[in-house]
Amino acid sequence: MDIVAETQRLQRLIDIYPEEKPFIEWGPKYSLEEETIDSHHLLIVQYINLLHLMIEKESHELSIGSVFNALKEFAVIHFAYEEEFFDEVNYEHTAEHKIEHKLFTTQVDELFKKYQAGDEKMIQKLYEYLQNWLLKHILVHDKKYLGALKNR
Ligand SMILES: [Fe+2]
Ligand SMILES: [Fe+2]
Repeated sequence: MDIVAETQRLQRLIDIYPEEKPFIEWGPKYSLEEETIDSHHLLIVQYINLLHLMIEKESHELSIGSVFNALKEFAVIHFAYEEEFFDEVNYEHTAEHKIEHKLFTTQVDELFKKYQAGDEKMIQKLYEYLQNWLLKHILVHDKKYLGALKNR
C-alpha cells in the first residue's frame, strides 16, 4: 500500500470542505520521530477525520461504511507492522500492547454497528472513543516502544 498516496487521496476528500476544522489536528505532539510509524499514524488520523466529516456533513461522496472499513483495515495493517517489530526485538510490553490493538478493533466495530443499526447517540461515543484511544495509544503505548525501536 502506498501510504503517501492514500494520505493525499484522503486529504483531497477532506478538502471538499475547506471551511471545516479537522476533528483531530495532526501536529508534532503526535510524532514519535520515526518516519514510517508517523506516516501510519497520520493516515489513521486522516481516516478518522474523513469519517467524522462525512457523518457531520451527511456527505455522500463515499459510503460512510466504506470509509469506516478502510480505517479498520489500515489499523490492522499498522498493528501488524508494530507487532512484527515487537516479536523481532522481544519487546517487553508485547502482550499488553497487543491487547490494546485487539480492543480497538472490536470496540470500534461494536460502536459503528450500533450506530448503523439506528442508534444515533452511538456516533458521539464512537468519536470520543476514536479520539481518546488514539491520543492515549500513540502518546502512551506507542511512545513506550520507541526506545526499543531506536536500538534496533
Ligand atoms: Fe500500537
Ligand atoms: Fe501505533
